[in-house]
Amino acid sequence: MARAPNREAMAGPASPSDRNPPILLGVTGGVAAYKACELVRQLQQRGHRVRVILTRGGARFVSPLTFAALTGEPTLTRLFAAAQSGEAFASSIDHIALAQSAKALVVAPATAHCLAKFAHGLADDLLSTVYLATSAPVILAPSMNVNMWRHPATQANLETLGRRPGLAIVAPEAGYLACGMVGEGRLGDLAAIAGAVETALRPAAGSIWAGRTILITAGPTREPLDPVRYFSNRSSGRMGFALARAAAQQGARVHLVFGPTTAEPPTDPAIELIPVTTAEEMAAQAFARFADCDAAILAAAVADYRPARPAAAKIKKSPDSLHLELLPTTDILAELGRRKTHQVVVGFAAETGDPRPAARAKLAGKNADLIVGNDVAQSGVGFDSADNAVVLVSTAEETSLPRASKDRIAAQILAAIAALPRPVPVPAKPGGLRA
Ligand code: CTP
Repeated sequence: MARAPNREAMAGPASPSDRNPPILLGVTGGVAAYKACELVRQLQQRGHRVRVILTRGGARFVSPLTFAALTGEPTLTRLFAAAQSGEAFASSIDHIALAQSAKALVVAPATAHCLAKFAHGLADDLLSTVYLATSAPVILAPSMNVNMWRHPATQANLETLGRRPGLAIVAPEAGYLACGMVGEGRLGDLAAIAGAVETALRPAAGSIWAGRTILITAGPTREPLDPVRYFSNRSSGRMGFALARAAAQQGARVHLVFGPTTAEPPTDPAIELIPVTTAEEMAAQAFARFADCDAAILAAAVADYRPARPAAAKIKKSPDSLHLELLPTTDILAELGRRKTHQVVVGFAAETGDPRPAARAKLAGKNADLIVGNDVAQSGVGFDSADNAVVLVSTAEETSLPRASKDRIAAQILAAIAALPRPVPVPAKPGGLRA
């Protein structure tokens, strides 16, 4: 059967099993196995859930406990784990269900032995069995001694594997090898491996977002009062980061302007990261990029006011009351609503209580095309949470999206923008998202 890449749908109801499908990271027995620990982190920073399948050889280099600690999930080590007692990190999970649950299978490092098994269809352990059973994209990052790499047997196996649809190989780099020799064989750059995963997951052709440029604002802003104090809010930036990731995964180029937050911004080559501090800095960066964009999604919780005259030195405590003059900040959404020509402009309304009246008012008042409203008083969703539950308000309709991960809500918001009543032209440029 042909290997069909397992693309994530833009919309549609989620079944419990597809809410957060993992990337399976196979780690085989090469000295570069230690680098797989950092690869776990890089994939997680891009918003992926990672589960590690450690071969027997891999476990001689890195302990299952290390990967269990990094991923927060049991490390998978044995094909028939249920039958074995005393295996602390094995799982009795069905290997076929495991293979089918994955959105991608990455093997880093992949030894010469692993390549040979995959090329010939041997299935004598969990990793090689999962390889045969998965329909997800496969990314192999070989690493070995230079002579093993150059051996005709290895090269023939690579040729066989390279012809398989849905399989990408991240070539090893040249350099000093652990065996003391110099030449090709060093595990490819981790960012290149993570980038190959993104490329494999990206439905470039056919997505309405392929080739589009999107401006996204995210996170809070900080408005200084003096050199040590500021006004800000609880926004984590995660909703905006999820939108940036989803847009990039669907082939868009993203300008992500974000305020100070402890959440990790996405690391995707298609996302330009523009960190800012204040509302005025965010406004300047957004205005500078808007003309070239097809859409702007303003998810930032921008401070509405800023101290009129931030003190140059720390304000000292005194028994008198302190009076502050606050000036309104530039309303970026309203300004982009005024300036828009072909762009679709989307704003957020974070309210305590039913967000729909405020969302309707902002839609009209700020000349937006869509407002994403949410009730920040609900527990477990919104500010600083992994989940969100929102209502999408446009002039044509109001749609409630029930509680789901911010990644899923982001995909649904992008689908809703693409489905806005104005017809969306198929060619990417020129003309933007509007007809
Ligand atoms: N926004 C913006 N620039 C600002 C303030 C807000 O771009 N200076 C955007 C936010 O990113 C969000 C939307 O406007 O998309 C929120 O609207 P806003 O009027 O700021 O909401 P609140 O201030 O929370 O509500 P209210 O007007 O009811 O006080």
